[in-house]
Amino acid sequence: MRILLLTHSFNSLSQRLWLELKACGHEVSVELDIADSVAEEAVALWQPEVIVAPFLKRAIPASIWSRHVCLIVHPGIVGDRGPSSLDWAIQQGVAEWGVTVLQANAVMDGGDIWSAQTFAMRDAKKSSIYRGEVADAAVRGVLEALAHYPDYIGGTWTPTPSNEFETAVRGTERPFIKQAQRAIDWQHDDTATVLRKLNAADGCPGVKDMLFGQPCHLFDARADTGYRGAAGEVLGRCGDALLRATTDGAVWIGHVGRLEHDPAFKLPAAVAFAPESAQLPELERAVPGEIRYEEHGSVGFLHFDFYNGAMSTGQCLRLREAYINAVKQPTRVLVLMGGEDFWSNGIHLNRIEAADSPADESMRNIEAMDDLALEILRTTGKLTVAVMQGNAGAGGCFLALAADQVWARQAVVLNPHYKNMGNLYGSEYWTYLLPARVGKERAQAIMQNRLPIPAAGAVQEGLIDACFDDAPTDFRARVKRMALELATAPDYGRRLADKCARRACDEARKPLANYRAEELGEMRRNFYGFDPSYHYARHHFVYKIPHAFTPRHLAVHRELPLPVGERMTKRLNQRQVSPGGY
Ligand code: COA
Repeated sequence: MRILLLTHSFNSLSQRLWLELKACGHEVSVELDIADSVAEEAVALWQPEVIVAPFLKRAIPASIWSRHVCLIVHPGIVGDRGPSSLDWAIQQGVAEWGVTVLQANAVMDGGDIWSAQTFAMRDAKKSSIYRGEVADAAVRGVLEALAHYPDYIGGTWTPTPSNEFETAVRGTERPFIKQAQRAIDWQHDDTATVLRKLNAADGCPGVKDMLFGQPCHLFDARADTGYRGAAGEVLGRCGDALLRATTDGAVWIGHVGRLEHDPAFKLPAAVAFAPESAQLPELERAVPGEIRYEEHGSVGFLHFDFYNGAMSTGQCLRLREAYINAVKQPTRVLVLMGGEDFWSNGIHLNRIEAADSPADESMRNIEAMDDLALEILRTTGKLTVAVMQGNAGAGGCFLALAADQVWARQAVVLNPHYKNMGNLYGSEYWTYLLPARVGKERAQAIMQNRLPIPAAGAVQEGLIDACFDDAPTDFRARVKRMALELATAPDYGRRLADKCARRACDEARKPLANYRAEELGEMRRNFYGFDPSYHYARHHFVYKIPHAFTPRHLAVHRELPLPVGERMTKRLNQRQVSPGGY
C-alpha cells in the first residue's frame, strides 16, 4: 500500500512505525505536520491509500480526512480523548492502558475504531512507556487496522463507532493536564505520589516546582528509602542528583529545567543549580546510580543508565574508569548493558549547549567518548558484548560496535549516522568499525541516508550480531544465559585468540590512532570551522525548535511531480531554509 505518515516529528514512535510498515512491503513517505496547506500538498503528491498519524499536536484538516482514510494512533484506551492521555493514566496510577487506532473525523479522538490494543502499565517515566509499551501496541494496532483496509474498501468491514465498541474498561474525554494538576504538595504527598506525578511529566514538560527558592521544572526522579528529613527539604546531593524529602522517604531529582532559561532545556540538577548544590552534603545513594557493575559466574555486567542516553564528558570518564575496573576482574566475558531505555545517544548535547564554549566542550566530550571506545576496542583479556535494551543513536551506536558482539531487543531502533546533527562528521572510530561490519559502500550509504535501521535489519546486514523478540525482562534473562554460555563455550579460547589476532593485524594495517586523528580533524572543522551548521542544529535540537520543513530524505513524495490540476499556490521554495544542514 501507499502510505503517508503525517506526524509532528519523526520521533521514536514514527520511526518505529515507518520501519515496520516498510518491512511489510508498503511504500511509505513522511510529511511533518507543519501547516494544513503543506499537508494537503503532500497528500496531493503522494496520493496515499491511507494516511497514518502516529504523533500529532493538532487536528487533521477536513480537506484531508473527508477524502482519505486517516488513521490516528491515540495513546489511550477506547473512549479516552484529549491531549494528555498518557500523563493522566500515569498520574492516576491505572493498571492497564492502551493504544487506539481510530479514523479521523470532525471530533478530535472521537472517530470510529479500527483497532484497540491494551497493555499492563509499569512504574516508569512517560517517555519510557511511550517508547516501549505504547510503541509496541501502536505497531500491533496499525498493522491490524491496515489488515482491515481491503475489506473496508470492499465494503465487507466497517470500523466500530467508539460508543459501540465492546471493552472491559472505557476511558473518557480529559482536558490538557495543567501544571496546577501536576503540582507536588511536598507537605502531604508521599513518595509514591511524588514519583507518579514526576513520571507522568517526564520527558516533557516536567513538573513545575521550586528549588533553592527559584522556579524550575523537575525531571528524572528515583525513590529512595534510606533517608528521611523535613518534607520538601533538599537533603543533599550525590553526583549531579539532588535528594529531596517526601512525607515518608525521599526522591532523587536527576534533572531540572530552569524557568528563566527554558524549562524544556534540561540539565543535571546539580549543574543547573551549581552554586547552591555545592553547599549541600555529599550523600551515598541508597538506590542504584547511573553506573553499576555486577557479576554472575564468570560474566561481568556493566550498566550505564544515563538520562536520555546522552553521555557528557564526566559521564564518559566515569564510565571508562568503571570499564577499566570491570576489565580487571577475573571474568571471561564483560557485558555492556547500557540503560533500560537507551543504549547511548552519543555526546551530551545539552551539556555542550550550556558550556561557556560549546566548541571546546564538544571537543572534550568527543575525546572522552573516543577514549572509552578505545578502551573497549583494545580489551584483549576477555570477550565483550554490547547489549542494546533500548534505542541507540549517532556516536552511541558506534560505541556499541567497539564491543566484540552486539545483541539487541528486536524493538530497538538504531540511528547509526551523525549528519542529522548539522552535518556532523562523527568519531568513535566509526571509520574503522562501520566498514568492517557492513563493507565500505554500505557504510557510506548508511552515513549519507541518515535513516533509522531496525534491529532485525541491522542483523541481516551484519551491523549487529543478534536480536531477539523478547519483552525487556525476558531479554535481560536471555542475555544473562547467553553471556554465561559464551564464557563457558569450548571455543572461548579460540574466539579470544582470534579477536586479538584480528585487532593486531588491523592495527598493523592502520593504527587506531590514525582513524581517530582523521575523524577528529573533520570534527574540529564541525566545531570550530567556518560552517556553523552543527551549532545551529544542536541549538535547534536541545530547544526542540520544530522543523521548518520535512527533511527531503524522508519526504519521498517531494521527489515526485505534482499531479496536473492539483498544483498548490504555495510553493515549497517559499519556505524557510533549515539551518540544520538538511
Ligand atoms: N544529548 C542530549 N540529549 C539527547 C541526546 C543527546 N545526544 N539524544 C537524545 N537526547 C534527548 C532528546 O532531546 C529528548 O529529550 P526530552 O526528554 O526532553 O524529550 C530525549 O533524549 C529523547 O530523544 P528523542 O529525539 O525524542 O528520541 P527519539 O527516539 O525520537 O530519537 C535520536 C532518537 C537518536 C534519533 C535522536 O534523539 C537524536 O538525533 N539524538 C541526537 C544524536 C546525536 O546527534 N548525538 C550527537 C552526536 S554523537
